[in-house]
Amino acid sequence: MPEDPEAWWSEGVLYQIYPRSYADSNGDGVGDLPGITQRLDHLSWLGVKGIWLDPITVSPNADWGYDVSDFCDVDPALGTLEDLDALVSEAAKRDLRVILDLVPNHTSIEHPWFIEARASRSNPKRDWYVWADPSEDGGPPNNWASSFGGPAWTLDETTGQYFLHNFLSEQPDLNWWNPEVRDEFDRILAFWFDRGVAGFRIDVVHMVIKDAQLRDNPPVEDGDHWFIKMRGQRQFYNSCRPEVHDVIKRWRKIADSYTPKRVLIGETHVFDTEMLASFYGDDDELNLGFNFLMIHAPLSAEALGKIIEDTDAAIPPGSAPVWTGGNHDNYRFPSRWAEGDADRARAALVMLLTLRGSVFLYYGDEIGMPDTEVPLEQILDPVGIRMYPVFGRDPERTPMQWSADPGFGFTEPGVEPWLPFGDAASFNVADQVGDADSFLTLTRDLIALRDAESDLRSGAFTRIAAPVGILAYRRGDGFLIAASLDEGAGGVISGVNGEVAASARRFRDGEQIDGDLTLEPGDALIVRLALSRQPL
Ligand code: GLC
Repeated sequence: MPEDPEAWWSEGVLYQIYPRSYADSNGDGVGDLPGITQRLDHLSWLGVKGIWLDPITVSPNADWGYDVSDFCDVDPALGTLEDLDALVSEAAKRDLRVILDLVPNHTSIEHPWFIEARASRSNPKRDWYVWADPSEDGGPPNNWASSFGGPAWTLDETTGQYFLHNFLSEQPDLNWWNPEVRDEFDRILAFWFDRGVAGFRIDVVHMVIKDAQLRDNPPVEDGDHWFIKMRGQRQFYNSCRPEVHDVIKRWRKIADSYTPKRVLIGETHVFDTEMLASFYGDDDELNLGFNFLMIHAPLSAEALGKIIEDTDAAIPPGSAPVWTGGNHDNYRFPSRWAEGDADRARAALVMLLTLRGSVFLYYGDEIGMPDTEVPLEQILDPVGIRMYPVFGRDPERTPMQWSADPGFGFTEPGVEPWLPFGDAASFNVADQVGDADSFLTLTRDLIALRDAESDLRSGAFTRIAAPVGILAYRRGDGFLIAASLDEGAGGVISGVNGEVAASARRFRDGEQIDGDLTLEPGDALIVRLALSRQPL
């Protein structure tokens, strides 16, 4: 299948923004759309091609924007539709695209559709949601567990039936078997595409269709991924149903009908690469599917090398994989992967930004921002409250650290941010921007190198044998990348001739390699190969 020349998303670097935490333009402690617009110069200077915003639609915030009560308006805390239009047009002036988050699996319990649906069994909106009678003992209709823990069903006392919620009970699941729901979402897609939005990241896209017979999920098995085991059941009947592909194809037709084409990126939270690849369809479903195997793996050459190789092989020819070190649901990679070791975080960044496909940075990644410890009394994430102290999502959602000044460039001095500030004195944009050795300069240089070198953007990925703990691969004919990922890993890769085009710890930039490429712990090197003498 030929590469699509319009597929601007397939090899560039994109950037995820959690809008409440990026930049607060009106001093209320909450980031907003005008704040993002004011920071576009940073993003264009960094070299990213587009931004994905976590939900900006109206929400009572039981799950911070992922419980939508109006799909076609902006939440007042974040701005207005006019602010969004201004953001899209200012971004376009800088050649940046704006991607929004679409949440089709569920609504807020406060959405007018659900308020109607629960009013009576005969309400016309009743069938927009998934309702079922109690089981014989009066309990939930089946054994499905919510992804956030506990049963996925809540009894509606008034009408005597249970409604399904794969997440919080404040997030009732829509019934995607209902053609009216499909039609309504066609209109929602068009509403945003017509405003110039470049595409959607689609929340839990693999889950939207459920088994029509609501059969029980099977138990986990020994060989299952640790994340599935943690859930206690295989999400076989409430996830990845074959019929979901029809829904995605329908959306793709709408996205492709626009000029330029709009992009569809799925939150494909699945645990095998074949399943992930299936969501690309025959170039008629998602354009990109996030890869959670990578996020849920340790920073280990063996583990990540296998995931990257398997994914690269599974994704349909002509399509691009997606790589990311973290997002708003997972701890930041400098903490989760590198455990605060700055060299390992740099090595991870070199790896991410030299893989084939599309790379998403999460805001703050460019300065190596670590997680922020949020004390129990300040936790706002409903999952964090339920699972304290084992897991929570606030540590990666704290305000962007723009400077060391009061308010840290996020808000006005003295204003209390909605989540506490992290260690902005040690990690901030202003201090790193002019520093040749900083994480930020490394990020920008790596993006610029990727932009300048077609092999780093689209060259084939070929893994190369390397000492334990080192991940090595070629990109096209022109580059070899070797990164010490495991703690303390070092060694030699022989037969390499060329020059170091960029290095994680900067002092090796420009080094000539004449046969033996030596890596010390924490090294990650991008070698421009001397083409006439490359035996590898
Ligand atoms: C996705 C979102 C997450 C949200 C959940 C329910 O996983 O990324 O933040 O809580 O869906 O909408």
